[in-house]
Amino acid sequence: MSDLRALLHRTADLAAEFLESLDDRPVYPRVVPEELRAALGGPLPDEPTDPGEVVELLAAAAEPGLVAMPSGRYFGFVIGGGLPASLAADWLASAWDQNAGLYVGGPSASVVEEIVQEWVCDLLRLPPDSSIGLVTGTQMGSVTALAAARFRVLERAGWDVSGDGLSGSPRVRVLVGAQRHITIDRSLRLLGLGAPEVVSADDQGRMEAAALREALSAGDGPTIVCAQAGEVNTGAFDPFEEIADATAEHDAWLHVDGAFGLWASASAQLRYLVRGVERADSWITDAHKWLNVPYDSALVLCADPEAHRAAMTVSASYLIQDDAGTVRDQVDWVPEFSRRARGFAVYAALRSLGRTGLAELIEGTCACARRFAAGIVELPGVQLLNEVVLNQVLFRFESDERTEEVLRTVQEAGEVWMGGTTWDGRRAIRISVSNWQTGAEEIDLALNAFRSAVQASTHAPAR
Ligand SMILES: Cc1ncc(COP(=O)(O)O)c(C=O)c1O
Repeated sequence: MSDLRALLHRTADLAAEFLESLDDRPVYPRVVPEELRAALGGPLPDEPTDPGEVVELLAAAAEPGLVAMPSGRYFGFVIGGGLPASLAADWLASAWDQNAGLYVGGPSASVVEEIVQEWVCDLLRLPPDSSIGLVTGTQMGSVTALAAARFRVLERAGWDVSGDGLSGSPRVRVLVGAQRHITIDRSLRLLGLGAPEVVSADDQGRMEAAALREALSAGDGPTIVCAQAGEVNTGAFDPFEEIADATAEHDAWLHVDGAFGLWASASAQLRYLVRGVERADSWITDAHKWLNVPYDSALVLCADPEAHRAAMTVSASYLIQDDAGTVRDQVDWVPEFSRRARGFAVYAALRSLGRTGLAELIEGTCACARRFAAGIVELPGVQLLNEVVLNQVLFRFESDERTEEVLRTVQEAGEVWMGGTTWDGRRAIRISVSNWQTGAEEIDLALNAFRSAVQASTHAPAR
């Protein structure tokens, strides 16, 4: 055991060394896959290797290929960094190594999820008796919620999808906004629901409620509508009040993908953006994005616990399940069977932030996004493409070539990192401020990086 203690202490040192290097290391590593393959690979050893040696070797060989993703200077995709309490709780979850599928596999792992349900419904102002599942990401959250939706809308049409499957069932209509996230399409594909009907969106990516109304009236039968809180490029929110009115008239199920945007509910300043969202039937939000829980972690919530459970539950004679419903068996709420005790890290993040800390995190990162937007428009040729209502900034230069060149120069300089996208048919640069460590200093570094890249640009600005 003393060897194990020494190993874990040494591992903690290696982890701390990486985290302490975040302020100085290039955000994106200069590495080619061959180097990593050479360092990590070779034939599988015949003989065992000492655990300490394995960890040293892994840490050294992986080091050149690590992205400083938990850094406050990382603005790519929509990525948080592990809050200290959450990171530490995640380590404990590994050490405790509970199989958190059933209460009997770990009572604390089960109860901690109940507490997370109470706290999250309170913070996000969702119906307090909504059911919850802790899944790997928004992708699996949407699979879970849409499985519940599929169950319920078909049940209303007199069809038991659990028993009879989809062959011969009434067709389920699914309506989505033109700028829904692609994980919605994959969820529908995995659930056998096929490609969705697409409703037009405005220039910010918000679903147009009038177009939804028209589309709903043009058909009938079991229907699901997928709305969005936080478009991945612009951060825009669909008009939930109008969407909820329309779906209610057609007895449709309303699902909301709020991978990051749903956390706006936790801020008194930003809550107006999600007005009406509580009227949906299901919601999904990531913990590994704006809540800054280490990967991978997300929350799926459902206002119809019966449908949620019916879509997910399993039983077998060797399992020890609670039929009386006095304790939580997590297999009833998620697609996994055996699973990690994902609740501890979420609990620790919420507990360490508290209500005010969470609001400050959300509001502070949005203020950083506004600071960046105000600075970037000062540069020659910049066109700001979004209304900066949240933590996302989207902009471009005069031509695709110049946009790409400036972005590449900034990425290669290594002080900050962000990605590109295509918006309205042309290349654009997207900034997401989602990390608890990002402040004015990191934003000014990013602005300076763009300033230098613009000065160095060889593509002449349009006259
Ligand atoms: C709106 C939206 N939905 C879904 C996803 C997918 O989330 P995950 O990668 O956690 O599955 C993202 C990722 O950025 C997103 O922004």
